[in-house]
Amino acid sequence: MLEYGVLDTKPVEIRFGILTVSDSGHRGERPRDESGEAIRSCLQRLNAREERYAVVPDEKDAISGKLREWAGLGLDLVLTTGGTGLSPRDVTPEATMAVLDRLAPGFSEVMRAESQKKTPRAMLSRGVSGACGRCLIINLPGSPKAVKESLEVILGTLPHAVDVLRGQVRECASEAPG
Ligand code: MTE
Repeated sequence: MLEYGVLDTKPVEIRFGILTVSDSGHRGERPRDESGEAIRSCLQRLNAREERYAVVPDEKDAISGKLREWAGLGLDLVLTTGGTGLSPRDVTPEATMAVLDRLAPGFSEVMRAESQKKTPRAMLSRGVSGACGRCLIINLPGSPKAVKESLEVILGTLPHAVDVLRGQVRECASEAPG
């Protein structure tokens, strides 16, 4: 049985950004951004440096604009939280798709599949994943619990993914764990 979260390959330094998508957070109505904090805390288990953090409203242009800006700065990874569900204001997947050059659906597929074992509502998240240039962008659901449960599944594979996106790994299969 494959164990998720086991660090895959050597620990490369990952330069990452956290983008919290929330109307109420952006209006300053939340005392804390617990979902952003959950991402930060999970990433501490990797050799990762937080370079950017922002809270934007559930507006497609605001989300896409920030993602494009951060990818242009050369960040390796951007994790978004929130706005992936079915409510009329949830547009994070559409805003993300607008900036992706290539899809990497495996991250979202495996997060949904594993999360489904914890809650039948996991299927409601429409989050997407992919690359904007060399920057990997992954949508996470909005609650701190969902962030932790989802990130747990993909965390160990992120360093290798970043390495491959940077063009520093050619032999992907030879050292694969599991
Ligand atoms: N995934 C995990 N692992 N745990 C959860 O509790 N909640 C779901 C889903 N994914 C959940 C989860 C729920 S209730 C919703 S509505 C969707 O994520 C979308 O959340 P969002 O709109 O806040 O992004």
